[in-house]
Amino acid sequence: MTLKVSERNTNKQDKLVMQLFEQQFQRSPEIVCHAPGRVNLIGDHTDYNDGFVLPAAINYGTTIAASARDDNLVKVYAHDCEQQTNEFSLDDISFDQQMMWSNYVKGTLQALMKKYTNIKGADFVVTGNVPQGAGLSSSASFEIAILKTFAKLYQLDLDGISAALIGQQAENNFVGCNCGIMDQLISAMGKKNHAMLLDCQDLSFEDAPIPDNLVLFIVNSNVKRGLVDSEYNSRREQCEKVAQYCGVSALRDVTLEKLNSIKDQIDSVLFRRARHVITENSRAITTLKALKNNDMPTISIAMKESHASLRDDFEVTTKEMDGLVEIIDSVLGLNGGVRMTGGGFGGCVVALIPAAMVEQVEDAVNNRYEKAFNLSPSIYLCTATQGAFR
Ligand code: GLA
Repeated sequence: MTLKVSERNTNKQDKLVMQLFEQQFQRSPEIVCHAPGRVNLIGDHTDYNDGFVLPAAINYGTTIAASARDDNLVKVYAHDCEQQTNEFSLDDISFDQQMMWSNYVKGTLQALMKKYTNIKGADFVVTGNVPQGAGLSSSASFEIAILKTFAKLYQLDLDGISAALIGQQAENNFVGCNCGIMDQLISAMGKKNHAMLLDCQDLSFEDAPIPDNLVLFIVNSNVKRGLVDSEYNSRREQCEKVAQYCGVSALRDVTLEKLNSIKDQIDSVLFRRARHVITENSRAITTLKALKNNDMPTISIAMKESHASLRDDFEVTTKEMDGLVEIIDSVLGLNGGVRMTGGGFGGCVVALIPAAMVEQVEDAVNNRYEKAFNLSPSIYLCTATQGAFR
């Protein structure tokens, strides 16, 4: 199934969320806010190593309709989470074992209140079209949409970078995933028709235009992701062990020469994990330069090497993701690039494809993926959009 951009437009989502708000709360909402999901073109598992990433915000996201309350209650209706409603007080925030989605709201507001002590509650309705658990950051877009909502409702002087850090705190300290900063930052600060090279050490970034002739082609392998958080957190620990062994705070400061020089002193799994991170950082920078020059062969090779490194050294791909990459690569050759995207263990692959080849690639995916893996793929043709705080 391919979902074209027009079928997923933001106005539709705005209308839906306003209608839902009226149904739930019997009045019109004060505001509607939207935050995008993201796709990462290259640089995976580098952000929490203080490295480089190259994501773009996409035209799939989370939309919230909301009104302020004059007490401290928060009432949320989550249309896409079995139409559940959750209600809690800002004075008494605790982890919810049943409605896991509500922990994103609770964690985000708890972290926001550390910076702004004067906020009150809200009634809100949330709906989104980022496929959940597909590696396109449905949760970061939720957190950033919540932050944008509260910033608007209570006129907070919250900027995009602070919002991203608050969203990350919610994940790290409340939800329990030790993620990096990439997803929240691009959802807040992405730029229309651009990707962003983000330096996760000092959070400086550079926007890079995506050439007009290229399409962001995303395919969900539709493999249910399992053990994502525990595997993710264990990868992070492995990286930290090597950094610590080298006497630095993050792998960003370890060169390939240095790593090779300690190869015999560290566990071979740790060596491969660190090799992925170090080589992936340079591939992200190479890709930025190539994108600026519209140099597709270089992008193509960097994306291919990135996928191989995530498969062999970092071991976060699945056979289905590897299969999709092979199918797409066999059609594209050096005319486009393809790799897994996001945290891995299932989810999506991303391809940068010349517009003229989209149909051919689509046919190959539709004809070959299901036959090989007995799973039907979902294809998303995306454009790069503006972040919520940009
Ligand atoms: C997840 C995390 C990000 C990043 C990616 C892998 O999306 O939330 O911080 O680490 O995985 O690049």
